[in-house]
Amino acid sequence: MALVNATVENVSVIGTGYLGATHAACMAELGFNVIGVDVDPEKIASLAAGDLPFHEPGLPELIRKHVNSGRLRFITDPDYTTVGAWADVHFIAVGTPQLKGGTGADMTYVDAATKGLTQGITKDSLIVGKSTVPVGTAARLAELIQDNTGDGITVSLAWNPEFLREGFAVEDTLTPDRLVVGTASEADEQVLRAVYAEALGRDTPWISTDYQTAELVKVAANAFLATKISFINAFAEVTETVGGDITTLADAIGHDTRIGRKFLNAGIGFGGGCLPKDIRALQTRVAELGLDHSMRFLDEMDQINLRRRKKAIALAFDLLDQDIEGKKIAILGVTFKPLSDDVRDAPGLDVAARLFNAGADVAVYDPQGNTNAAKRYPRINYVNTLNEAVTEAELVILTTEWDEFKALTPTDLHNKVTAPRIIDARNVLTPTDWENAGWTFAQLGRKFDS
Ligand code: UDX
Repeated sequence: MALVNATVENVSVIGTGYLGATHAACMAELGFNVIGVDVDPEKIASLAAGDLPFHEPGLPELIRKHVNSGRLRFITDPDYTTVGAWADVHFIAVGTPQLKGGTGADMTYVDAATKGLTQGITKDSLIVGKSTVPVGTAARLAELIQDNTGDGITVSLAWNPEFLREGFAVEDTLTPDRLVVGTASEADEQVLRAVYAEALGRDTPWISTDYQTAELVKVAANAFLATKISFINAFAEVTETVGGDITTLADAIGHDTRIGRKFLNAGIGFGGGCLPKDIRALQTRVAELGLDHSMRFLDEMDQINLRRRKKAIALAFDLLDQDIEGKKIAILGVTFKPLSDDVRDAPGLDVAARLFNAGADVAVYDPQGNTNAAKRYPRINYVNTLNEAVTEAELVILTTEWDEFKALTPTDLHNKVTAPRIIDARNVLTPTDWENAGWTFAQLGRKFDS
């Protein structure tokens, strides 16, 4: 490709959801002129006004800083001619959700953005895929790009997966623990080295590879993390049957540096917009390749994970002597994890909805998630404070480990609830504190004798 001496000044980011909005703001922070493009005019209007349509610590401030500095703009660019004539590098950051009625990834948005963008490009440029995609996508898109590139210009493709965690999106983007780039040429790699010069200056590991490896690194990382969580949760099924302490077990094996303690927190399991859909899409993709046996274990991981939700519900029934009809149950936390307002595939919300459907009088409180949860399950009762949720509750279930909930003590709740019963579905409370204060206390991974 012919970006002269890998000079990159102007960058576009196509898709301004979680990944794209963060990437756009961080690229501006790194000194590039950035245009974020989205097909949703409402989202663009709100980002252009410096407002974020989702919760992510530090991101609104960064967006406002660079919208004000003039280095960051957000536009709808239906035929991509504005960014196509302007940017040197285009990042594709649109979503690849789980297909409705299927387990594979929906590639509609990636395909449409790549084709439309290529047709709008009028100068030599590099398209960089960041979305999480089935292996083989980049090779296919490279052909799509070739077929749609205008005469006399060169447009090439690189794959550069993103590993950001919700709640730490800015930090993970500005100071990644590694950078992975799959390119088809040395020249394209040099362009990306110029883009990420700052991180490279800090000796961030740089993994230069082919398209397939770059695509697979992302799904392999998420599959590994999901497996780690389900692994400890499988042991939780054992300890809650025979006795034993799952947290001590995790601590003990975690001291082995080959294993590591991170992502060994047993509880109600993983959710969110990435892990569940990515392990399903990976299984679907390898099955298409005739290798369904290779990733079959991921189905088991998925099942272990979903069983944790059922276990939390079974415990709720046990604590209420199998009679939950009309009983007030406080659900503390419906986001898939703290520091997020994301309720996609969130275990706590799933449990809340099932208990509600089973006839319980469910009161949900989440510091950030109520609004999104109410869009999904409007009939459940959402309350604005922890106090309202627990007042006159016959059972409290801690389903997301927000600091506000981790700090709870029995005395905080004692005079409010109707009956002192609690399920700590994230294993963040100290059992003896509650039991000594007269509470009926249950945790996932801990034997409970009703
Ligand atoms: C994940 C990956 O971590 C990130 O690298 C990738 O880019 C996107 O997917 P995220 O979806 O933000 O990030 O969530 P993560 O922090 O990985 O947590 C996923 C889920 O696992 C949460 O529901 C969390 O509560 C749960 N979890 C995590 C556990 O149940 N136990 C643990 O020990 C760790």
